[in-house]
Amino acid sequence: MDKKQRKIVIVGDGSVGSSFAFSLVQNCALDELVIVDLVKQHAEGDVKDLEDVAAFTNATNVHTGEYADAHDADIVVITAGVPRKPGESRLDLVNRNTKILESIVKPVVASGFNGCFVISSNPVDILTSMTQRLSGFPRNRVIGTGTSLDTARLRVALAQKLNVSTDAVDAAVLGEHGDTSLVNFDEIKIAYQPLNTVTTVDDQFKADIEQAVRGKGGKIIEQKGATFYGVAISLMQICRAILNDESTELIISAPLAGEYGIHDLYLGSPAIINHNGVEKVIEAELSDDERGRMQHFASKMLNMMNVAS
Ligand code: 2OP
Repeated sequence: MDKKQRKIVIVGDGSVGSSFAFSLVQNCALDELVIVDLVKQHAEGDVKDLEDVAAFTNATNVHTGEYADAHDADIVVITAGVPRKPGESRLDLVNRNTKILESIVKPVVASGFNGCFVISSNPVDILTSMTQRLSGFPRNRVIGTGTSLDTARLRVALAQKLNVSTDAVDAAVLGEHGDTSLVNFDEIKIAYQPLNTVTTVDDQFKADIEQAVRGKGGKIIEQKGATFYGVAISLMQICRAILNDESTELIISAPLAGEYGIHDLYLGSPAIINHNGVEKVIEAELSDDERGRMQHFASKMLNMMNVAS
């Protein structure tokens, strides 16, 4: 019996999609990578550029394609959507990007696709939730990048503030990938030691760190027009965990079905990822105040979803 071909379809070959493709061909043994974009010439140019990488690393069959190519794919990654402009919030994009999402998910499902959706388009928690609703796929087979990027930014900010390696920082950002993200301070460890044994964790410390995390995306957009490297690595890690059946713990936009007292919504949480997609959502320890904050913006996001759909 032929070995199952490992195949990913990327929908959207903008800065995020292209950076993700570049990361994927370097870090993930893949038999076929299909790039779908409305701007055909750009996608064809990216394919030629990526072919050259194959001469240095894993040889991957990279080509442009259509939604129908998803029929035998393991994963469809959706990065397509209008990116934020300076001063815009991610939630400002919900109506425009919901329409783009609908135009993608329906033909992909119609192709007979039966793998996992992985979403990075913003607002990612709402669009991941909408992808599950539009596709009708089991919740575990729809995943968003969520607060994985915020978590990376938190670890960088703490490492810089405490003058340690990011490897020494065990920390997580939960909830919305956006202005109401939640830094789980009580659970942070620096070199296996609780944060408050390493430094003074007062309100000013917390405010500085939260601002460093929440404001970084907007600052990068102001300076270079878009962010794409961090989220590209997050997409690559999620796809590699699925393809390699890693059962690894990642922070993702995860399907909540009662965790944190929240139902029918994807939000940033630790989860175990393997060939089934989300094997298990891990409910992080939260204080009553943190739990209440998470439930408050969850209800706000569910309202936005119901209006947008
Ligand atoms: C970011 O925070 C684009 O939402 C993404 O960089």
